[in-house]
Amino acid sequence: MTTRQSRKLDHLRHTLELADGPADSGFSDITLIHNCLPELKLEEVSLETDCAGMRLSHPVIINAMTGGAAGLTAVNARLAEVAFRTGAVMAVGSQFVALQQPEVAESFRIVRQVNPDGLIWANIGAYATVDQARQVVDMIRADALQVHLNAAQEISMLEGDADFCGWLRRIEQMVRQLSVPVIVKETGCGMGMEQIRMLSSLGVAAVDIGGAGGTNFLAIENSRTGQKLSQDLLAWGIPTAISALEASEVLPPTTDLIVSGGVRTPLDAAKALAIGAAAVGIAAPLLRLTEQSGVAAAVLWLEQYLKTLKKLSLLLGRRSVAELRSQPMVIGGKASDWLSARGILVDKYARRNPAGER
Ligand SMILES: Cc1cc2nc3c(=O)[nH]c(=O)nc-3n(C[C@H](O)[C@H](O)[C@H](O)COP(=O)(O)O)c2cc1C
Repeated sequence: MTTRQSRKLDHLRHTLELADGPADSGFSDITLIHNCLPELKLEEVSLETDCAGMRLSHPVIINAMTGGAAGLTAVNARLAEVAFRTGAVMAVGSQFVALQQPEVAESFRIVRQVNPDGLIWANIGAYATVDQARQVVDMIRADALQVHLNAAQEISMLEGDADFCGWLRRIEQMVRQLSVPVIVKETGCGMGMEQIRMLSSLGVAAVDIGGAGGTNFLAIENSRTGQKLSQDLLAWGIPTAISALEASEVLPPTTDLIVSGGVRTPLDAAKALAIGAAAVGIAAPLLRLTEQSGVAAAVLWLEQYLKTLKKLSLLLGRRSVAELRSQPMVIGGKASDWLSARGILVDKYARRNPAGER
């Protein structure tokens, strides 16, 4: 087994054992304003959404996690079953390993076998060449490619990369030369508006800001390798809700926003959609459920999640994901201080939605 493969197995094991944090996702700094006159029936509320040029039946994505080593074919098959039964988009974990060892490609292909007509996204790092990116898309007949950015994780790994040059150029080439939409995602440290602007100027179909407050790869590496990173370093990154608000400030309508990293409750998802997300990504909670309680429990959890999200949309008087985007919200606490310091007016979020308008 290669280092990359044993690391992948370690990540899975530590994810099952570790809790989120110590960073906070920042969603508690946001309050959505209740609508006491929704003038809506629950059956009228739709969760359908358009994201990266695709029509999704609901906005919850099973985000990239796994594949690439013995035992992981079964894990991906179970996650794919959850995706099939709930209509969720599913992204697979980084497929780079399968380019070096074609015998593990099966652990990714299984996802397409279980869910032949579902929306499935391929995944590779920004260090990959266009040709490698094309191969991983073809491997699973993917509908889109996620390109992950994980500098903090790499630099914290004893055997990780230390050279992060050329990523923008690689991403630009992928956008230009691949036939599927390219989605660039962080993996738990968030994106600031300066980099989000750069990525959208390259024409990426969506950014998944992958903020801090959920799965924490620095903490996973810390417990995997026995390093003793201090608490302040373990909390490194831009909290998810704050990163999403930075993105919402600078993204043009041609680049969709996906919010992930500690999206846990349906209210977190509603807040992310109100900030402007087309979809949200959830990773570790679905892995824990599927592996510890089984596929049926994960399906039930996601169905309940979506039902509650619909009810929240009704309580805000919004009949669709698109309508949620003009939902007024009050931003307080650290998020308010942060955004003000970054020149983003928080008051405008509280005063969205002129009287009488949905
Ligand atoms: C076990 C595990 C493996 C992951 N592997 C990948 C990966 O290969 N590629 C990637 O882009 N993100 C990967 N991620 C990151 C997730 O896609 C997601 O961005 C992150 O976990 C934050 O979401 P969460 O807080 O809901 O878990 C992985 C996450 C977990 C838990």
